[in-house]
Amino acid sequence: MVAITTAADGSIEAADFRQIFGLLPTGVVAITGKSESGKPLGFVVGTFQSLSLDPPLVMFAVDKGSSTWPWIRNLEQFTANILSTEQLPVCKALARKGDDKFKDLPFEWSTIGTPRLPGSTAWIDCDVASEIVAGDHYVIVGEIKEMEQASDCEALLFRGGKFGEFDFWDRPAPEPKPIAEEVETQE
Ligand SMILES: Cc1cc2nc3c(=O)[nH]c(=O)nc-3n(C[C@H](O)[C@H](O)[C@H](O)COP(=O)(O)O)c2cc1C
Repeated sequence: MVAITTAADGSIEAADFRQIFGLLPTGVVAITGKSESGKPLGFVVGTFQSLSLDPPLVMFAVDKGSSTWPWIRNLEQFTANILSTEQLPVCKALARKGDDKFKDLPFEWSTIGTPRLPGSTAWIDCDVASEIVAGDHYVIVGEIKEMEQASDCEALLFRGGKFGEFDFWDRPAPEPKPIAEEVETQE
């Protein structure tokens, strides 16, 4: 175990920040949209979350330095493709910089006109509801227009710089003791 301390002035080192947040597994989601000329665009986030049921909202955080987000933002629509364990190559293609990310990537247009990536676990098509400036990122809130489970494939996970998949415990959960018995033991 590595102990990490905060400097007296409260500053946080980038490496420590990454190490601590690398302990928390995240899903891997491709945010896709299109340019005004109709070109498919996308990038990968680990910050995608559900936010509200009524109205149905989702959120993710995008770095202010993203070269793709400003183009997707112009048309105010995106699809969150929940990537599956079969889609590591798709993840790698979209998690790099460049304007040819869709060169070898198959996709289908959603009814709102955003690219859906085949083989995803689910697709969530959204309008951009709001964008909040938060430090070096924008927090994007999307309103769900349509969503669909796309396959039975397991979601791809990310933790500490490595990819993996979810596994349920195969050992049974511990049998709970009757509450009265626990109280007696404590006396
Ligand atoms: C597993 C994983 C999670 C990521 N999460 C985020 C994220 O939440 N927000 C973000 O801005 N970038 C995230 N990135 C990095 C972007 O995908 C990457 O910087 C991408 O190249 C940005 O491309 P762009 O400049 O074309 O937008 C993540 C990358 C990976 C592999």
